[in-house]
Amino acid sequence: MAKVIRIGMLGFGTVGTGAYRMLEDNRVAITKKIGLPFEVVKIGIKDHTKDRGINDSLFTTDLNSIIEDPTIDVVMELIGGVDPAAELVEKALINGKHVVTANKELIAKHGSRLVHLAKSKGLDLHYEAAVGGGIPLIQPLKHQLAGNDVIRMMGILNGTTNYILTMMEEEQADFGVALAEAQAKGYAEADPTNDVEGIDTGYKISILASIAGGKQVPIEGIYREGITKLSITDIEYADSWGYKIKLLGISDFVGPDTVRVRIHPTMIKSSHPLASVNGVYNALWLHGDFVGDVMFSGRGAGSDPTGSAVIGDFLDVGRNIANGGSGSAIPYDLGMNTANMDDLETAYYLRMIVADQPNTLGEIAMVFGKYGISIAEMQMKTLPSNQGEIVFLTHEAVEREFQKALSEVAKLPCIVKVATFVRVDG
Ligand code: NDP
Ligand code: HSE
Repeated sequence: MAKVIRIGMLGFGTVGTGAYRMLEDNRVAITKKIGLPFEVVKIGIKDHTKDRGINDSLFTTDLNSIIEDPTIDVVMELIGGVDPAAELVEKALINGKHVVTANKELIAKHGSRLVHLAKSKGLDLHYEAAVGGGIPLIQPLKHQLAGNDVIRMMGILNGTTNYILTMMEEEQADFGVALAEAQAKGYAEADPTNDVEGIDTGYKISILASIAGGKQVPIEGIYREGITKLSITDIEYADSWGYKIKLLGISDFVGPDTVRVRIHPTMIKSSHPLASVNGVYNALWLHGDFVGDVMFSGRGAGSDPTGSAVIGDFLDVGRNIANGGSGSAIPYDLGMNTANMDDLETAYYLRMIVADQPNTLGEIAMVFGKYGISIAEMQMKTLPSNQGEIVFLTHEAVEREFQKALSEVAKLPCIVKVATFVRVDG
């Protein structure tokens, strides 16, 4: 009798249900492509009282019973976070099971160790769904693009924040309303702070940079800002100068085994390919020394697209099992160096609320001049209560000098507040 590939799922939320539905809906085609039949035999969840709409006997709250079941071949880890996911994945590998995961935090923090463990056991550990939802990014970086020096990557890697920024721009939506919609659609993380503060984007761009550079990027070396300080006003000023504001994860390889990884709102020219990536769509733009510029895009979050990426990985595992292969995990070591953010050279957008009085502009310009920062463009308007709004675009400056200028400007008596600054790329 032909072997049946036995699957144990950990988690049956947004991603788990998408993956399960794809296995059921496309069973015939997937079976044919693998060459063996498969069955989901157990599903681990936290709350047994929820109605899941499928055979209740599949569900268990005892996740260890899945990773210790000697008849299970493949574990899909779709619960998220590090605790208990890290221990469960490690034990599953030790117990000889292939693992597919959508967990970016787990891979960003423990990827090197876990992939080495998988390799040493001749097992697969795949994580395509962890970055960019349904977009194939990990496999092309590991395979088709692997001969390149990937000098720069810039990505819209979080569906929730791109959805929020698009709603703010297109419908003047309030931040909280847009976030609630993204949550209702299943895009946001269990704790949406991870989305809006750029933490999720940080995990994703660090995974991509780790694969591209062959060494794990330490999370502590990443510079990160989220989107919570942005307002519709900033989006409108950006638009008036021909720019869009996107939350980007950017990695620049600046020397041997050295990368600068940063996540922050970025103003990009409206003509840049990333500028028209809207809503839940994600995209990765990269420049490789031989391939040149490449861009991938698609749905970056949600049940079906992410389920699709999980099942793509499962097909890889299934084919390996069917062919008696020894796993195709590609390990990378620890030890990537991270370059200091202070040395970055970029242009800046800066919006300030000021006292509407003589010489305000002169005082501000004097401070910027002192730190070698040259102003490229400016807009000014009068606000109620004897206040004004001054907005600058600077020429390229060194981050360290810009930050010094900013803190000195903020202390000027004519400044009511420094409302926002955004780095400008290109
Ligand atoms: P959900 O919160 O929708 O689902 C999580 C599932 O895991 C639920 O079934 C939950 O059980 C179960 N679970 C959580 N903690 C435990 C625990 N300690 N013990 C047992 N079961 C547990 O999350 P998502 O499906 O959105 O996310 C899953 C993973 O996929 C995360 O790593 C996430 O970052 C990643 N991801 C998510 C995407 C998305 O669009 N949502 C896209 C790409 C990746 P119960 O049902 O009982 O609550
Ligand atoms: N919360 C994530 C996002 C899910 O919004 O992009 C996909 O990784």
